Amino acid sequence: DENRPFTAAVIVLSDKGSRGEREDLSGPAAEEMLKEAGYDVVERFVIPDEPEVLKHHLIRLADSRQVDLVVTSGGTGFSMRDQTPEATLAVADRNAPGIAEYIRMKSMQITDRAMLSRGVSVIRKKTLIVNLPGSPKAVKESLGFILGALDHGLKILR
Ligand code: MTE
Repeated sequence: DENRPFTAAVIVLSDKGSRGEREDLSGPAAEEMLKEAGYDVVERFVIPDEPEVLKHHLIRLADSRQVDLVVTSGGTGFSMRDQTPEATLAVADRNAPGIAEYIRMKSMQITDRAMLSRGVSVIRKKTLIVNLPGSPKAVKESLGFILGALDHGLKILR
């Protein structure tokens, strides 16, 4: 049914969060904004900064669960543990660079540190995957920039 709401999953990349050493506020922030925008958020979970674990979930969510949108939060910076973009690129069929470009462009008007996020946006099968930085502030800002235009792309993708 082409009028069904889009489905979304939120994956938070955080070593500390996955060990229960830090409360994850980014995931709930992303979920709330997605719901507000009409998405059916079918999964939200925290994993450590392990690229093989992330790849497993991205493949599962795209190929088996067939969600329309996967948003990741965290692991996009310069720490050696930050490997979210590499894991995302490893499972990608097609690049969709404009989304990551727009996030960085708009974010750099807020903080020049936005240039330090290496996040990417790609398509695997019929699933759009977007990397966001890890802080709740960055998640809210970034989703705020892109949600308006995503609908049109997701409609064409499904
Ligand atoms: N983008 C927005 N919109 N707002 C922010 O506060 N913080 C930046 C950047 N992008 C930020 C942002 C900072 S300080 C870093 S280090 C990078 O995202 C990477 O964040 P990550 O390692 O949590 O993914």
